Amino acid sequence: MQYKRSSALFKEAQDVIPGGVNSPVRAFKGVGGHPIFINSAKGAYLFDEDNNQLIDYINSWGPMILGHAYHPVVEAITDTAKKGTSFGAPTVLETEIAQLAVAMVPNIDKIRFVNSGTEACMSAVRLARGYTSREKIIKFAGCYHGHSDSFLIQAGSGAITLGVPNSPGVTAGTAKDTLLAQYNNLAQVKEILEANKNEVACIIIEPVAGNMGCIPPAPGFLEGLRALCDEHGALLIFDEVMTGFRLAKGGAQELFNIKADIITFGKVIGGGLPVGAFAGRAEIMDYLAPIGPVYQAGTLSGNPLAMAAGITMLKELNDNPDVFTAINKKTERLHLGMEAELKKHNIPHTINRVGSMISVHFSDDPVVDFASAAAASGERFNLFFHGLLAEGIYIAPSAFETWFISNALTDADIDKTITAVGKIVAAW
Ligand SMILES: Cc1ncc(COP(=O)(O)O)c(C=O)c1O
Repeated sequence: MQYKRSSALFKEAQDVIPGGVNSPVRAFKGVGGHPIFINSAKGAYLFDEDNNQLIDYINSWGPMILGHAYHPVVEAITDTAKKGTSFGAPTVLETEIAQLAVAMVPNIDKIRFVNSGTEACMSAVRLARGYTSREKIIKFAGCYHGHSDSFLIQAGSGAITLGVPNSPGVTAGTAKDTLLAQYNNLAQVKEILEANKNEVACIIIEPVAGNMGCIPPAPGFLEGLRALCDEHGALLIFDEVMTGFRLAKGGAQELFNIKADIITFGKVIGGGLPVGAFAGRAEIMDYLAPIGPVYQAGTLSGNPLAMAAGITMLKELNDNPDVFTAINKKTERLHLGMEAELKKHNIPHTINRVGSMISVHFSDDPVVDFASAAAASGERFNLFFHGLLAEGIYIAPSAFETWFISNALTDADIDKTITAVGKIVAAW
């Protein structure tokens, strides 16, 4: 497949957009080459500016769980747009989507809508700090919660992991309040909590990590975090921006039967429009302005087009829970097929999968945290990525991203992908 026009368009974009993209991972920096410019999409396929048809395993990084340009969602957006696109005043759509979300997700009484996952996580942490009157937070290395300052922190050198900024512009003052732990390392979290008694407002975690590839929580890990939070008076925040309305109607809380205190959402909840949300028990959520002291606001929050898209998406999932079984089955087919090819050709690999989230690491060792994800072969991943792209198969351009399976993918698409995997690795 040729991607000549995309290459030219990328050059043009770089003159007027920093790095040619509006979000860094789109630039293909991790895998080399240039991004593919998309013209349109339908179902399981993207159509690019070179007129290639690509099988899509990114699905806009998660939202398009039912496939692209899903007719009921598109119809809801267009019908709503005709009535005006933003009012800056309440609409019934906001109450409707809130009622739907509260009915679908366990353990939440109230939900506030924002415009992105970043905003949701940033606001959830502020709420946790306001509610507990504490300042420190614990996050896990390799988990991504958006690009707000408190989260752009990497491991420092201390015995108990004190964070340091991992982007210029994040102040040392902010970094000192973010404590870092390794994913799946409960003993370390316990140690951090004990060294910071009565100071930790919350632990924020991706209950299934999707930002180091896909990494499942070890048995007992999430339960352990819940117990530690209870013991230390800290809130547990599940960042369900990826897992919410994907792993189950009620997301990871339902799948693992664990109650978080605040849950953040993005991606699927907006049906492909810019939406985030955070939710929890009334006693916590009522700490928010205008009834509580914690400030949070947004001109376009609860935007009618976004709410109409989200309502339609959530209703589809609520009315057809078989979708979750179907996408999990498709993901399993992909998993087993790729695994057989990699085994046949003696390629060291670890495939992690939870529900419809899956990733391939070129490593013999279990991938359980950021360090083990980083130890896998980046060189092999890049070859794998470009090999698939040449076959018209579009996976995330980084080994540190999960793939998202949509219900529009057919068995034939999956089998074509498995065959391509076999062809690529046979040449190694
Ligand atoms: C788990 C998680 N949280 C938060 C975010 C941030 O969401 P957004 O990109 O909508 O700001 C992401 C983005 O991929 C994410 O994966």
